[in-house]
Amino acid sequence: MKSAPVIAIDGPSASGKGTVASRVAARLGFHYLESGALYRLVALAGGDRPEQTAAGLDVEFRDQKVFLNKQDVTDSLRSEAIGVRASEIAGLAAVRAALLGRQRAFRQRPGLVADGRDMGTVVFPDAALKVFLTASAAARAQRRYKQLIDKGNHANLAALSRDLEERDQRDAAREVAPLKPAADAASVDSSDLTVDEVVDRVLKMYRERM
Ligand code: C5P
Repeated sequence: MKSAPVIAIDGPSASGKGTVASRVAARLGFHYLESGALYRLVALAGGDRPEQTAAGLDVEFRDQKVFLNKQDVTDSLRSEAIGVRASEIAGLAAVRAALLGRQRAFRQRPGLVADGRDMGTVVFPDAALKVFLTASAAARAQRRYKQLIDKGNHANLAALSRDLEERDQRDAAREVAPLKPAADAASVDSSDLTVDEVVDRVLKMYRERM
């Protein structure tokens, strides 16, 4: 039996991948994987041996919420400090290997939309559609700022821009599964597009390919 189709959406921090990917999934009735949440969960769970933490994560995604060891951690997962720590841990090959099977298990019928940094290059190299979503550094810092403030978190725009830049550089420079477009990815710059426009573009590309 042919495996379920995958739409891979990769890109730098705050490029809008999460919002776009979850809406595309909803429109198609597909499953949704936010792979960054797994790296954030390893960071949040802590421990001296991140690869062991990754292998043993007790995590559940349910009703748009994330549970770690049966506790609702949806909000604490989103802090910028956890994002930075996640990106440090994500450079470890053993952590990435420990999370691979968990990510691939999301591939179920009728299909999956997965967002992250290496969905198209490493985790789902045979994805039906690969999108590399970018946006200018200013647009991304603004978006993340708004996201944090809207959720009641504290945020400082200048510090946030610096953190995002540092995190993207680390993600792009690492040896294992660096942030980069797959050779067969379609690049979309979302700086001047609304979320709906990006979603429509992705759906159109997907339909053309199927
Ligand atoms: O996407 P998000 O910002 O939540 O991801 C947090 C961090 O997890 C990223 O900065 C990146 O280092 C790491 N990550 C990764 N590979 C993925 C998803 C996230 O390395 N597929």
